[in-house]
Amino acid sequence: MTRILLGVTGSAACFKAVALCSELVQSGHEVQPVLTRSASRLVTPLQFSCVAGCRALDDEWEPSDPAGMDHIILARRADLLLVAPATADFLGQTAAGLATSLLGSLVLAMETEKPRIFVPAMNPRMWSNPAVKRNTATLERDGWMRIGPVSGPTACGEEGEGRMVESAEILSALTSLLQGGE
Ligand SMILES: Cc1cc2nc3c(=O)[nH]c(=O)nc-3n(C[C@H](O)[C@H](O)[C@H](O)COP(=O)(O)O)c2cc1C
Repeated sequence: MTRILLGVTGSAACFKAVALCSELVQSGHEVQPVLTRSASRLVTPLQFSCVAGCRALDDEWEPSDPAGMDHIILARRADLLLVAPATADFLGQTAAGLATSLLGSLVLAMETEKPRIFVPAMNPRMWSNPAVKRNTATLERDGWMRIGPVSGPTACGEEGEGRMVESAEILSALTSLLQGGE
């Protein structure tokens, strides 16, 4: 059993993260979902609470920890951070070390020795934008592992690289990481 912090950011692919959350739980992992404010407008925290069996969090000002320190407590407790889907905005904020959300704060509070994985999802032109490429490279240099994106039809009706990897592939990448593989 791995304690997974599942970060969900505001992408059209957010709905896939609900299924991913459910599959992670069914695979025997403990999952704590943390949504950004944008993600909470696209899907509800309650959907994640239902499948995770714990309260999904999306607001640092409405903490679950009695002392209000969710970003510290959650980062300390987690074995692994998985951000899926990861928006262009998340990549930029994280590359710059900003902490303007609960997710942003706990990214900074998480020990860098623990696995940190991001699964980008965005329009193909956004994904090929030089700023996004630069931010992606910064995260990878900082020790983050990336899964995807893949080519295919995107929610905006375009075709190209930017589509979020399906949950089965994320699960298999995670399993191989946890077993010490590639
Ligand atoms: C309907 C809708 C779909 C969106 N889909 C994406 C997306 O797939 N990828 C992305 O990078 N941004 C997408 N955005 C823009 C982000 O939601 C926006 O940049 C937001 O500030 C991201 O905040 P967050 O990173 O804190 O979640 C979308 C916005 C809307 C309204």
